[in-house]
Amino acid sequence: MDAIECIMTRSSVRKFKPDTVPPEEIREIVRAAQWSPSYKNCQPWQVLAVSGNRKNELTAMLLKLLEEKAPTTPDLPTPHEWPEPQKTRIRDHMEKRSALAGFDLNAPESVIRSQKANFRFYGAPCGLFITHDSSLGPWSVLDAGMFIQSLMLAAYTRGLATVPQAFLTDYSRQIKTFLGVPETNRLLLGISLGFAADPPESMPPRSERVPLEEVLKFID
Ligand SMILES: Cc1cc2nc3c(=O)[nH]c(=O)nc-3n(C[C@H](O)[C@H](O)[C@H](O)COP(=O)(O)O)c2cc1C
Repeated sequence: MDAIECIMTRSSVRKFKPDTVPPEEIREIVRAAQWSPSYKNCQPWQVLAVSGNRKNELTAMLLKLLEEKAPTTPDLPTPHEWPEPQKTRIRDHMEKRSALAGFDLNAPESVIRSQKANFRFYGAPCGLFITHDSSLGPWSVLDAGMFIQSLMLAAYTRGLATVPQAFLTDYSRQIKTFLGVPETNRLLLGISLGFAADPPESMPPRSERVPLEEVLKFID
């Protein structure tokens, strides 16, 4: 598989086998992602890999917080309004996913169901949490995004599946305490990691992309 095929065929997986991911595989994909570019090579990223009983305990804690309707504590602000064209793209995406699921994913009870599935890491045996010092600025968030994409592509080439999850940052403060991450760190994203449960033909259809003309403009 070349790099273009790898980028174009990776997709978010939301159903996993329970099989554990060998620690050496996790080391391998993080080692590869470390070669991502970053502002002046400052490499603003750290990864915590949680599995086994600790992952189950973390899920239980998150479900309890949800049950108690505890206020969320994300380190990155949650966008409440989206500008166009993102607003329309998100609406279209959610409509398609709702049609496939057979219910309205925007309905409050569906949001809670979705939150619970996220907190269960969609059944994946491993959760990765990406953090860095919260005094770092927006360039470092950009750097971390590149690192995360590299990590997911590296996982994919090793036969592993991933899904990046903002939901896994809803209770950032409590997650950091649980993981022993200093309060002064920013929890950027959670990622479920494991082996995809379904053969590709039974996966939901690939998410779509806008026409190239909406993205690329040649100036000459
Ligand atoms: C920053 C970020 C946050 C995301 N948060 C979630 C999430 O909380 N739960 C989830 O199931 N998917 C989440 N996703 C996955 C997106 O829905 C997915 O990447 C998008 O629909 C495109 O589909 P693809 O990854 O299969 O190409 C997130 C993706 C990104 C990049």
